[in-house]
Amino acid sequence: RSAVTVPQLHARKQAGEKIVMVTAYDASFAAAVDAAGIDVVLVGDSLGMVIQGESSTLPVTLDHMVYHSAAVARGLHKALLIADLPFMSYATREQAYASAARLIGEGRAAMVKLEGAGWAADVIHALAERDIPVCAHLGLTPQSVHKLGGYRVQGRDEERAERLLDDARAVAAAGADLLVLECVPSALAQRITAEVAIPTIGIGAGPHCDGQVLVMYDLLGLTPGKRPRFSKNFLAGTDSVAGALHAYADAVRSGAFPASEHSY
Ligand code: KIV
Ligand code: NA
Repeated sequence: RSAVTVPQLHARKQAGEKIVMVTAYDASFAAAVDAAGIDVVLVGDSLGMVIQGESSTLPVTLDHMVYHSAAVARGLHKALLIADLPFMSYATREQAYASAARLIGEGRAAMVKLEGAGWAADVIHALAERDIPVCAHLGLTPQSVHKLGGYRVQGRDEERAERLLDDARAVAAAGADLLVLECVPSALAQRITAEVAIPTIGIGAGPHCDGQVLVMYDLLGLTPGKRPRFSKNFLAGTDSVAGALHAYADAVRSGAFPASEHSY
């Protein structure tokens, strides 16, 4: 198996082959993900919550992201590494250039991810012009939690669904290479996936996306409290982290996950 590349991800969409993605924050988990044949590893700013114990992703700094991205990179041989640009690290083009340069240069990421459209589409365009691969992120965008008023499904009414579809077109036109759709109704994610040429990666976005992503600790059943609807404990039914990661990858590739019970 050779290393996963950005053009290969585009080819997967054309071929109708699902893209499997999971978060990791350190070298040991990264190596396990890589060994399981998972395509893409995301160093998510979810680390603010699952690693640091914060109640949102907002306190995460660029230094934190660079540190964890570099650690994950040391564990990988094949999987493509994406790192999140944290809150307010890409508010202007110049800031986005400087922040992406650190995630790619020091953090060894192959792609950066950022949330939003509108002004963020301009930032995507600026990065894409410099040949920096970008993953867009729409729907429930956790860096906007204070404006959204909580973590809940987005794009439920027709007006908001149309706006999300326009945003998806805009980030694709701006040059994004991938699009994460978080907590949007299945039917809307299906429309967006059919509409845009770039692969869509769903989390709480139903079974019709071109790929799926989960937070590692959700997948391992470590999430305290009530399980989020969109996640599944893949450690149940196996006896190792490797087994859980293989089960997750198989379930995404076969279309068994997500099922309607994990969707909106
Ligand atoms: O930070 C993260 O883990 C993410 C995924 C949930 C897509 O952005
Ligand atoms: Na994130």
